Amino acid sequence: MPQTAARLNSFTESVIREMTRICDRFNAINLSQGFPDFDPPHELVEAARRAMAEGYHQYAITWGSPRFRKALAKKQEFWMGIPIDPDTNIVVTCGATEAMMTAMMAACNPGDRVIIFSPFYENYGADTILCGAVPIYVPLYPPTFEFDPDELRKAFQQGVKALVLCNPSNPTGKVFRPEELRLIADLACEYDAFVITDEVYEHIVYKPDIHRYMASLPDMYDRTISCGSLSKTYSITGWRLGYVIAGAKVIHAVKKVHDFLTVGAAAPLQEAAVTALEFPLAYYTTLQQEYTRRRELFLNYLDRAKLRYTTPRGAYYVLVDISEFGFDSDVRFCRWLAEKIGVASVPGSSFFDEPVNHLVRFHFAKKKETLIAAGERLLNLCNIV
Ligand SMILES: Cc1ncc(COP(=O)(O)O)c(C=O)c1O
Repeated sequence: MPQTAARLNSFTESVIREMTRICDRFNAINLSQGFPDFDPPHELVEAARRAMAEGYHQYAITWGSPRFRKALAKKQEFWMGIPIDPDTNIVVTCGATEAMMTAMMAACNPGDRVIIFSPFYENYGADTILCGAVPIYVPLYPPTFEFDPDELRKAFQQGVKALVLCNPSNPTGKVFRPEELRLIADLACEYDAFVITDEVYEHIVYKPDIHRYMASLPDMYDRTISCGSLSKTYSITGWRLGYVIAGAKVIHAVKKVHDFLTVGAAAPLQEAAVTALEFPLAYYTTLQQEYTRRRELFLNYLDRAKLRYTTPRGAYYVLVDISEFGFDSDVRFCRWLAEKIGVASVPGSSFFDEPVNHLVRFHFAKKKETLIAAGERLLNLCNIV
């Protein structure tokens, strides 16, 4: 019997999706895998129905339907403040998941080094290894998740091809400050590296913070490969629509990878999603207000349950400190929490390269009633410590 590829031995299956299975087994409330339990805007669902009826059933142009790319270019030009040509600066992908993988494959040769801040969204390590590159992890230190500029410089000095920047960050909720972005940008310029951004939470940032795009910083347009998604902004994680935005030369390479990897994202859903990309500004204000309310509701329960956590400034996750419960493993804590308290979370260790075992991640992209039900269950933790 031949052996499967050795590179797969260096990472495990997704812990997050495993937590969803554990959650189902104990009938717990799922605050592990980050997807909403509410519907997308109904205009969008109607647009999908129309697209199906109008016959968009065959492959779209491989790098994206022209209507979708035109609408996306207009929207992102507005938010990012950079010129975006729909033909030469965009590839539409199957979610940001494919966007990141495609960007990484377009940027890196086997053996190249890639900087990843730790904790990190679990795909990045796997993406790097799958394209034959070598991850170098730079810690973001809890509880505030700052990085040490000297450690970052030392990582760049090892000769890196790219740095992955998740901003706003899953799992920490960190929103990188302007001076942090500039420092990263300066190092990328000095050491001639790409910055591959994952900005799926660009529109979920809490006041007074705002999202700043790496590609918009002076000198960064050409070396930034921006990855984004419609999954979170429009609550359509199952539609699998994402994109890469970059300079024409990089996009030329990304098109090649994407063409052979997936051919393209779902044609009728690209047509339907034009409706979302043309939503007025008020949509984004409401989205931000709704997530602010969800965050307040859930954090209030964590306060009442006397749990310690880092307040997220963006995205919809919160890392909670479980040290006081005396578990020797966060994985065991998460199983126990799902079984005995009825709430599913993700062990923090699955996001860290370092041996960090005292954090678990909850997400709060849920209906008010779901968050209240989960919060009421978490209040039982007060009696346990
Ligand atoms: C940081 C980050 N990037 C990418 C994704 C996946 O995005 P998509 O659904 O567009 O593939 C997620 C989903 O949780 C995420 O948190």
